Amino acid sequence: MELFDVYPLYDLKPVRGQGAYVYDEQGREYLDFYGGHAVISIGHGHPHYLNRVTDQLQQLAFYSNSIHNDVQKELAHLLGELSGCGDYHLFLCNSGAEANENALKLASFFNGKRKVIAFRKAFHGRTSAAVLVTDNPAIQAPINKGFPVEFLPLNDAGALQASLAQGDVAAVIVEGIQGIGGIYVPDAAFLQQAQRLCREHGAVLILDEIQSGYGRSGRFFAYQYAGIEPDLITVAKGMGNGFPIAGVLIHPKFQAKHGMLGTTFGGNHLACAAGLAVLEVIQKENLVENARRMGGMLMEALKPISEIREIRGQGLMIGLEFDYPTAALRKQLLFEYGVFTGSASNPNIVRLLPALNIGPSEADQFLDRLNKALQHQNAYQTL
Ligand SMILES: Cc1ncc(COP(=O)(O)O)c(C=O)c1O
Repeated sequence: MELFDVYPLYDLKPVRGQGAYVYDEQGREYLDFYGGHAVISIGHGHPHYLNRVTDQLQQLAFYSNSIHNDVQKELAHLLGELSGCGDYHLFLCNSGAEANENALKLASFFNGKRKVIAFRKAFHGRTSAAVLVTDNPAIQAPINKGFPVEFLPLNDAGALQASLAQGDVAAVIVEGIQGIGGIYVPDAAFLQQAQRLCREHGAVLILDEIQSGYGRSGRFFAYQYAGIEPDLITVAKGMGNGFPIAGVLIHPKFQAKHGMLGTTFGGNHLACAAGLAVLEVIQKENLVENARRMGGMLMEALKPISEIREIRGQGLMIGLEFDYPTAALRKQLLFEYGVFTGSASNPNIVRLLPALNIGPSEADQFLDRLNKALQHQNAYQTL
């Protein structure tokens, strides 16, 4: 059987990873400033992660959600402690889209409404409800069009107020930092207004922290820069450092009911052990603080590069906007200089999403290789 060919592939085959690096079949080293799409939070092959997952695998890898599972409880407890959301409740699932799907469902259960407000350039996943609130009609099938959605400009509190005032909105969903859209940070004042307006009009505020959460922004959650208290927070990506695990943090005002939500694999023992290992490393190695410090250093050091028109982001979620499409530059970085970077829906943007435990030496290597690639590219272009 052949694979269903939905992914454009680089002609490259990483087979091993260690820290901030991955290695291909020939043993060539690549600096990973993409983290397999913001997934690698504590670095490849972290020894604590390997030990915890291996120990759990030897004990019990899986049992269904019909029994008591202490690893889930331990995970929820530590997540509450590190995120500062200890009074929320946790529903565990398997992917970012599934987390948003459940959050949207919870919102609609809560207030009985159907309409959702999302924002231009938003990405929330590819399952039925999540893809409908994603600002990309090309990935929505007719069967996905199940409820009304309005896309508003990010940071436009006036438009949000006008739309919410109609009283029919179940939820407002917004990324802590827009990722795939090209690294756009919502204004703190806008998030504060969004919270106030949602409360006033009975809508549920969902913060999608799937990419921006788990320390990536330099706070545990990016929305914490705005000091708000969302109704629902969705997490995935960095949560398992590559092991599929996701969740919804649910404000205590939501009443749980047996059978309301559910999943076969969500919250299984092995996934929770991976999730716990990630949190333990984030705590022990102070990775939220490290992401803030290293991100600040990187953004400062990138400023003098004249080809970069704009630098956006927080912590280690950084977008570099150029005046031209960056596909050739990213390819050159990968194949000539051994650096993985990310793209965005805007072709002029390079996204940086390294592990949260990079140090000055990885940052210097990245800057050195980027400068070389830009010099080479300029020389090539002027030939
Ligand atoms: C902000 C955001 N939400 C949701 C998703 C969907 O997550 P998944 O691919 O795990 O379904 C992504 C994935 O890139 C994302 O960046």
